[in-house]
Amino acid sequence: MAFLFNSDPERARIFAAEFKRELPQLPFVTDPQTVDPADVRYLLTWTAPPDIARYRNLEILFSIGAGVDQFDTGALPDAVKLVRMVEDGIVRMMQEYVTLAVLCLHRDLPGYLNQQKLGIWKSRTVCQVSARRVGVLGLGMLGQAALERLRPFGFPLSGWSRSPHEIAGAACFHGEAQLDDFLAGTDILICLLPLTAETRGFLNAGLLARLPAGASLVHAGRGQQLDQKALIEALDSGHLAGAVLDVVDPEPLPADHALWRHPKVILTPHIASVTQPETAAKAVIANILRHEAGQDPIGLVERSLGY
Ligand code: GLV
Repeated sequence: MAFLFNSDPERARIFAAEFKRELPQLPFVTDPQTVDPADVRYLLTWTAPPDIARYRNLEILFSIGAGVDQFDTGALPDAVKLVRMVEDGIVRMMQEYVTLAVLCLHRDLPGYLNQQKLGIWKSRTVCQVSARRVGVLGLGMLGQAALERLRPFGFPLSGWSRSPHEIAGAACFHGEAQLDDFLAGTDILICLLPLTAETRGFLNAGLLARLPAGASLVHAGRGQQLDQKALIEALDSGHLAGAVLDVVDPEPLPADHALWRHPKVILTPHIASVTQPETAAKAVIANILRHEAGQDPIGLVERSLGY
């Protein structure tokens, strides 16, 4: 039995130390050449290796990140459990990023950055938190954590997801039928949806048009969910006031792309939330123990839903 780790050496060092301490009986391997493929029960990786079929006794495929859209689930044997990364570091970083982005849009930082470039010393219109409605698309672990971190600021909060949820302090909407009401009541829209066949292209011209005039977007889902041309048009027409984008399509964004220099856009290079090896190693070990005790791992992907 072995755990095969396929990521960078720095992360490997931290994982190896934690495994040695907490699961010394499970061989921790970083070089696939040094293990009999039939012994590999657990594989942690960002993408599936082309020769994954060699690992015929694989029980869990752990994604090193929160997303699993990079895996072709159809090509994985049914018996293999695919598990998203659910760990404190990823959650905390996403909470930080969402808070940063919401406050930045709420206080019109893009406007002040443009004024600074022009040497303009001038206050801009202020909106009180009670009048700034913040809505989260996607109420999984990250969406719920984002709402929890935003709560103390006093923004009216809401969330939308495929299936019904109940979250303290946030109005919850679900399904296609309630999407219009959710969008109509959202001044800052945060997208934390997983990328699936249904969410590809979800943030399109029609959806952006259903947001109130002057709304803004925070996008930390996946680039393929956003129609970037539609976003630029909505910003240029004045319908949308701003956007903070951590994900784009393609990544990296081509040097001549209009989003780089758009005065209403703040762009970051897919850094909103990154797996932290110290906490991730603990989460993976806890999941192995759960699995060995006959329980489902935390973050188990429902193959039919794609997340
Ligand atoms: C980052 O995008 C991740 O999936 O962890």
